[in-house]
Amino acid sequence: MLKMLAISFEFFRLPPEEKAKLYSDDPAKKIRLSTSFNVRRETVHNWRDYLRLHCYPLEEFVPGWPSNPPSFREVVSTYCREVRQLGFRLLGLISLSLGLEEEYIEKVLGEQEQHMAINYYPPCPEPELTYGLPAHTDPNALTILLQDQKVAGLQVLRDGKWIRVDPHPNAFVINIGDQLQALSNGRYKSVWHRAVVNSDEERMSVASFLCPCNSAVISPAKKLTGDGSPAIYRSFTYDEYYKKFWSRNLDQEHCLELFKSESATAMPSSIESSCLTRCPHRMVDD
Ligand code: OGA
Ligand code: NI
Repeated sequence: MLKMLAISFEFFRLPPEEKAKLYSDDPAKKIRLSTSFNVRRETVHNWRDYLRLHCYPLEEFVPGWPSNPPSFREVVSTYCREVRQLGFRLLGLISLSLGLEEEYIEKVLGEQEQHMAINYYPPCPEPELTYGLPAHTDPNALTILLQDQKVAGLQVLRDGKWIRVDPHPNAFVINIGDQLQALSNGRYKSVWHRAVVNSDEERMSVASFLCPCNSAVISPAKKLTGDGSPAIYRSFTYDEYYKKFWSRNLDQEHCLELFKSESATAMPSSIESSCLTRCPHRMVDD
């Protein structure tokens, strides 16, 4: 974990001309350095640079990864392998916790893709004017987030309040993503989170996303639907979901809302999403 963070800082300290070679604002690219979230679509930008890498299968993608810093490929691929195994263990435990067989979620998600966002948040002269990342949920299944070991910035929405998730040495933050909310028929909630910036210190985070394979059909597990708990979401392929996600701005309504089953569309949207419009740009707990 420490090596992964160290190499990330080393990467972002490379001269701009070196990093510029990797720049792209095309979300479809599998290796790219970019800024904000989706610069092609946004009117307000976020104070973040990020390197996005596809990580599975490693043999396919590592040859295209940055070769500078020299140990980048080795350190990051070792990290990716470990994180994938951790993710699978968690998915097994989540399946069991839902009363499903241990392999259930892994089977539904198919040969999972793994993506990584190395997020670099430089000090921001006017942090109250923007975010590092505005409130969003992750569109994938499970996210394993390695935070900066010193500088805080992550917040999650709980019971309508934004709470800080401060750095915790040697710990990961695990985010449930939209696909687990859909699969579990809403028993697990995709967490709303955001990153704020500050004027004094740079911050790094490394998000590893486990994603269903593109053709995976996501629908609420049969065992979790039935009398009294109708399917909240319709069936969709991850490919369909992911395209929809990237065609929008991050601060629009929850992408998952667009995939509700017909019987569920009449239901009011969650307290969380209504709170998002009520408390922009401000911590509720301070
Ligand atoms: C993300 C993310 C949070 C952070 O990359 O999706 O939510 O703390 N990052 O950088
Ligand atoms: Ni996120």
